[in-house]
Amino acid sequence: MIKIAPSILAADFAKLGEEVLEVEKAGADWIHVDVMDGHFVPNISFGAVVLNAIKPLTKLPMDVHLMIENPDLYIEEFAKAGADYITVHVEACPHLHRTIQLIRSFGVKPGVVLNPHTPVETIQHILEDIDLVLFMTVNPGFGGQKFIHSVVPKVKQLADIIKEKGLSIDIEIDGGINEETIVPCAQAGATVFVAGSAIYSKNDRTQALQAIKKAGEE
Ligand code: DX5
Ligand code: ZN
Repeated sequence: MIKIAPSILAADFAKLGEEVLEVEKAGADWIHVDVMDGHFVPNISFGAVVLNAIKPLTKLPMDVHLMIENPDLYIEEFAKAGADYITVHVEACPHLHRTIQLIRSFGVKPGVVLNPHTPVETIQHILEDIDLVLFMTVNPGFGGQKFIHSVVPKVKQLADIIKEKGLSIDIEIDGGINEETIVPCAQAGATVFVAGSAIYSKNDRTQALQAIKKAGEE
């Protein structure tokens, strides 16, 4: 089963509530919330106040992707604003185990994000503690970038490890996902797909979302 998580980073912020409801109606499974601090990544997006505003509008799980330094300082705030999943970058967490425990202590499902060049080995000793691994298939910071194909073998590598260990971990892909790029990722074992521009740049969000989902399920 393929899940699609539209990224609100690509939505029209002047009517964000409507934009969330529209992708819910289109068949979205999760809402992907991209938080950027201008330090870990060269762009600033928004903070917990935006999550707090959209949370009451939908029952869909809120998938919060923290592209920030010192995430420990903000985890409680995002948990209280309604995060169902919080993912942190392995590159930003020198005490990753502590950060994961902190996320779980607020009843939120923890996940770890790997930049395109970061090896799967960096998370091999934390797999038992997490619910989600997010592979970046662009360099984080901006929507609308080109998919980096060299990440796909990492997806397969992790999927094999998860299977071998009998773990229950979702593999999510973020960056440049569309009807074509979803295919090799789904074949490699990924189950959740973020899509920003491929959904929000289209007038017919239902058609766009369902076409991506269908391509991933074939
Ligand atoms: C990039 C973000 C992505 C991005 C995806 O830093 O983490 O979630 O918004 O956008 P598209 O699908 O347009 O690549
Ligand atoms: Zn993201």
